Amino acid sequence: MNEDIFREALLTVQARRQQALVEYENRQNEVSMEIPQITEINSQLAQTASKLLALAQSGRSITEALETLQHENQEAQHLSANLLIRHGYPADYLDIHYHCPKCQDTGYTQDRYCTCLQDEVAAIGIREMNRQTHLTLCTFAQFSLEYYRNFTGPNGEDCYTVMQKILQRCRKYAEKFSTNSESLLLYGKTGVGKTHLSLAIANEVIQKGYNVIYDSVINLLGNIEQEHFGRANEHDDTLSLLLNCDLLILDDLGTEFDTTFNASCLYNIINTRLNKGLPTIISTNLDYIDIRAQYEERIVSRLFALYTSLQLVGTDVRLRKKMQNET
Ligand SMILES: Nc1ncnc2c1ncn2[C@@H]1O[C@H](COP(=O)(O)OP(=O)(O)O)[C@@H](O)[C@H]1O
Ligand SMILES: [Mg+2]
Ligand SMILES: [Zn+2]
Repeated sequence: MNEDIFREALLTVQARRQQALVEYENRQNEVSMEIPQITEINSQLAQTASKLLALAQSGRSITEALETLQHENQEAQHLSANLLIRHGYPADYLDIHYHCPKCQDTGYTQDRYCTCLQDEVAAIGIREMNRQTHLTLCTFAQFSLEYYRNFTGPNGEDCYTVMQKILQRCRKYAEKFSTNSESLLLYGKTGVGKTHLSLAIANEVIQKGYNVIYDSVINLLGNIEQEHFGRANEHDDTLSLLLNCDLLILDDLGTEFDTTFNASCLYNIINTRLNKGLPTIISTNLDYIDIRAQYEERIVSRLFALYTSLQLVGTDVRLRKKMQNET
């Protein structure tokens, strides 16, 4: 899990706890002004613990006393709830209202991360990605197969049928995603839906609580280069995030500058993640021949032997949408 995101999520959850306690205190103050009797009952309740302690220390048999205490306690609680209701408050008005009762907003249950913390991690991940992309517009639900109807692909295939299969494949990929999932190479011409589908996968995988990084190859390599040659900042280490995140999506391979630095960086990312068994999704406008021409053998062989390639076919949907809007 990305540590910065994790830390931020934990802070959010713990801030909720603070908030719950502050609100609880405010309600207590409010009620004590209006129903002083309740304050008395509550202070009686609060003494239960010290009474118990005193009992234990006295050496007398506690079973019977314990029962009496318990009884008193229940009665006091009852009384308090009744008073509240009579004054127009809900019966649980003086309870602490945690956002997540399961972990009382600590983020942990026993020694595990609570689901509320996991949800927060996912939410922050999505927000980070949303900053740069139109993620919310790119879901499976928003992916229409109609754009591919009545088109024939470069090898005479029916685009609708091909894309229907690819859509199904991507849906299943997202649904069954784990850190052991295969790596995908989505290739095809501009505007056929490569970015859309990879973002749709990202969307779902993030919602499952996985740590996903999505960006264009240009941006990511640019960040790494800056960190490499500029002020090295340990806490902002893009490369190590890319090497370790649960799912990495590299968009638009082939648009980056053809430099030694970029080539060795790409190789490092592709190779390290394959060695770790971590999935990567790469999208590109390049076809097999272009990739062979543009990249060194050690990259080419890994992409074609170890990634599952899916060729997207059809027309430029961006263009089609634009034309539809204009007519
Ligand atoms: N099948 C589709 N249904 C709806 N919108 C689509 C579809 N395919 C692509 N788009 C939209 O068209 C635009 C271009 O698609 P995109 O995925 O960026 O293409 P690519 O990455 O293949 O160049 C985007 O706005 C995308 O949301
Ligand atoms: Mg794209
Ligand atoms: Zn929780």
